[in-house]
Amino acid sequence: MVVLSQKTTLPTLLLFLLGLLSVCCCRAELLRFEHEAKPDGSISFLVVGDWGRKGLYNQSHVALQMGMIGEKLDVDFVISTGDNFYEDGLTGVSDPAFHQSFSDVYTDPSLQKQWYIVLGNHDYRGNVEAQLSPSLTDMDSRWLCLRSFILNAGTEMAEIFFVDTTPFVTTYFTNPKEHVYDWKGVLPRKKYIENLLLEVESSLGESTAKWKIVVGHHTIKSAGHHGNTDELNMLLLPLLQAYDVDFYINGHDHCLEHISSPESRIQFLTSGGGSKAWKGDINPWNPREMKFYYDGQGFMSVEVTQMDVGIKFYDVFGNELHKWSTSELGKFVI
Ligand SMILES: *[C@@H]1O[C@H](CO)[C@@H](O)[C@H](O)[C@H]1NC(C)=O
Repeated sequence: MVVLSQKTTLPTLLLFLLGLLSVCCCRAELLRFEHEAKPDGSISFLVVGDWGRKGLYNQSHVALQMGMIGEKLDVDFVISTGDNFYEDGLTGVSDPAFHQSFSDVYTDPSLQKQWYIVLGNHDYRGNVEAQLSPSLTDMDSRWLCLRSFILNAGTEMAEIFFVDTTPFVTTYFTNPKEHVYDWKGVLPRKKYIENLLLEVESSLGESTAKWKIVVGHHTIKSAGHHGNTDELNMLLLPLLQAYDVDFYINGHDHCLEHISSPESRIQFLTSGGGSKAWKGDINPWNPREMKFYYDGQGFMSVEVTQMDVGIKFYDVFGNELHKWSTSELGKFVI
């Protein structure tokens, strides 16, 4: 708090007012977090999405396998691609669903790491600020959920940009049907999206990390039930292409999926199999781009070194369904 004394001179006052103005007018930079690499310089993590169903719909089976793979890979952290609590987010910070769907489900010792979490559309149907509240972190120290933020994983190695994608989707505003969305902190929407895109663009532009990974709830490319998200194709994808992003990772479609595209190096990865899955719900897609699609439950692991990023998808039994690594792009061939 700045207290102006009675002797405050005019220039000081002007400076103070200018300062206030810049605080009010300039967009807030995205918060940054650091996560150290292992002693050998590598990082590994798991990605799960669309999960919070009090252990039902195989959520607890997926959690069990995450624990085993998490131990095998000695994971450093876990990422959630959103839709953390069904059907309508949390009602408040004391909603028992927080324990029933999170703390009491992901109990394996290997999962007692930092969780980096974004919001999905279902989370916006509850009390959004509850999920963003530090009181959840007081109850379970693993919980870190923000709308948009940046994670530096390892020194100059991987920079992970978490983007709040729900506000991009027009129909949630124009045709919400029976759902009530909590847009506190988002309105006016146009300004929110513009600021967010500016922040993402400048942070991508400044990034010196070897690997750039963007995480959001909604799909950019997907053959699943929801399919592509037009707004993200129009507004976010061009930034990812312009700044050489390596991976876009999302949930929203309740499947496991890997799509690559001929026009950029970006790999589109969907990890939305944390609980209820949509069997047989798949649309046609160019087979040359579709590397993998699984319409059941599961999760993904990511292993990062300076040389290479490897991804793997697992089903509810812990079977490895698909793996791929950046070395397949042949970019280290001289
Ligand atoms: C749980 O997973 C198994 C194996 O994929 C599947 O057959 C079963 O339908 C799933 N159960 C539910 C409730 O989704």
